[in-house]
Amino acid sequence: MNGTERELKRVFVRTYGCQMNVYDSERITDALESSGYAPVDTPEAADLILLNTCHIREKAAEKVYSEIGRLRRLKDDAGDAGREVLIGVAGCVAQAEGEEIIRRAPAVDLVVGPQSYQRLPDLVSKARAGGRVVETEFAVREKFAALDRPAPRRRERYAAFLTVQEGCDKFCSFCVVPYTRGAEVSRSVAAIAAEARRLAAEGVREVTLLGQNVNAFHGEGPDGRDWGLGRLLFHLAGIPGIDRLRYTTSHPRDMDDALIAAHRDLDVLMPYLHLPVQSGSDRVLAAMNRRHSRADYLRIIERVREARPGMAIAGDFIVGFPGEEEADFADTMRIVEDVGYASAFSFKYSPRPGTPAANRDQLPEPVKTERLARLQEAILASQATFNASRVGMVAEVLFERPGRHPGQIVGRSPWLSPVQVSADAGLIGSIARVAITDVGPNSLFGHVVGKAGLDRPAVEATA
Ligand code: SAH
Ligand code: SF4
Ligand code: F3S
Repeated sequence: MNGTERELKRVFVRTYGCQMNVYDSERITDALESSGYAPVDTPEAADLILLNTCHIREKAAEKVYSEIGRLRRLKDDAGDAGREVLIGVAGCVAQAEGEEIIRRAPAVDLVVGPQSYQRLPDLVSKARAGGRVVETEFAVREKFAALDRPAPRRRERYAAFLTVQEGCDKFCSFCVVPYTRGAEVSRSVAAIAAEARRLAAEGVREVTLLGQNVNAFHGEGPDGRDWGLGRLLFHLAGIPGIDRLRYTTSHPRDMDDALIAAHRDLDVLMPYLHLPVQSGSDRVLAAMNRRHSRADYLRIIERVREARPGMAIAGDFIVGFPGEEEADFADTMRIVEDVGYASAFSFKYSPRPGTPAANRDQLPEPVKTERLARLQEAILASQATFNASRVGMVAEVLFERPGRHPGQIVGRSPWLSPVQVSADAGLIGSIARVAITDVGPNSLFGHVVGKAGLDRPAVEATA
């Protein structure tokens, strides 16, 4: 390495989209840190600005272009001051648009798809040397191999994500993910367990397994066979220091018996399931190519709740899908009531170029807007009912950070909801038992009643 390369540079990464991107942004920072880039919090302070983009919403690409337009001024100002600033686009818009970004946005020096982040140090050097670089190969195995090397120590924190699977073979007719992230690939159980042990050694207490379709996980087990997510969870539950496990996001088709059994048998697996349904209408589900019915979905929820009573169910919905009639939408409203969601995301359908549904007849915008408002009202009511039902319970809370007000600390309940208590900041990083006494719109309130005990359940009703 020569003298100029050793000079300390600074990188700013802006993250959009899903948790997979959040995880990737950390890996991007790790990869660049090892080649001399210190992470900074503002684009103004950086020599390299990376946008880690998401392509799930309409006009995502347009928004990236206007963001680049704003950053271009920063780049020009820095250039006038004799400092070179590089702009890079990563993530799903990079994968989908590729060369087009270089053509349309002269300020961009580097375009890199989600499977090539391990090559970033090289790609950045090339871009610094004056070439504009586009890298959108699907080299997911190489990416996983790079993840398997020990990552540098990260910022102290107690809950972390761990990617176990990438890509999706489901091809729901509205979704770009199979195109931007490619086919399903799973990491090996050994590699995942090694990363979990490393996280535990860094003080992480809660691990959320990540994948675009996480319960389709089928990684190579220590016995050389394919293991599913259920078996993986049993394996990870044995790692000392990992006190809580979660996984996201799942597809109803892949909720198999072993995974449901894990919810029954593993105390460390939190009683929370994010299981998107998208629509409550069988006609719309078929048009979406979801490959499950409304009854299939409800049956899964019933089985999961039998396995783990009191489970929090979260969902995703799309309203105004092509062909959705008022009767179909009424089925969606009914499923919100039937399931009693603890929380749910809801979106207006937006056509994604290249996906089958994009070419179908679209519903008028006002219809979508009006249905979304009705759905969101129902979801909020459901969330309020769920939260209210927690009052009077004692639940284990993993405290993660100071609260907004002095003397307050904030953590997560087993159901993923934020919990605020007045307590000593020394509790941050530990799990304590909290009596839930009150609810706000988005969080629970309570007071600490004791330490977490291995002999006691994570949730119990107070006498
Ligand atoms: N793999 C996950 C979802 C990934 S995308 C799953 O199968 O559920 C996250 C959410 O974005 C989806 O659940 C869906 O509700 C929403 N979404 C995806 N494509 C969309 C589109 N074209 N229009 C509106 N919402 C969309
Ligand atoms: Fe997209 Fe999820 Fe469907 Fe895969 S399962 S195509 S990621 S919505
Ligand atoms: Fe968006 Fe790509 Fe994630 S499109 S939701 S960043 S997989």
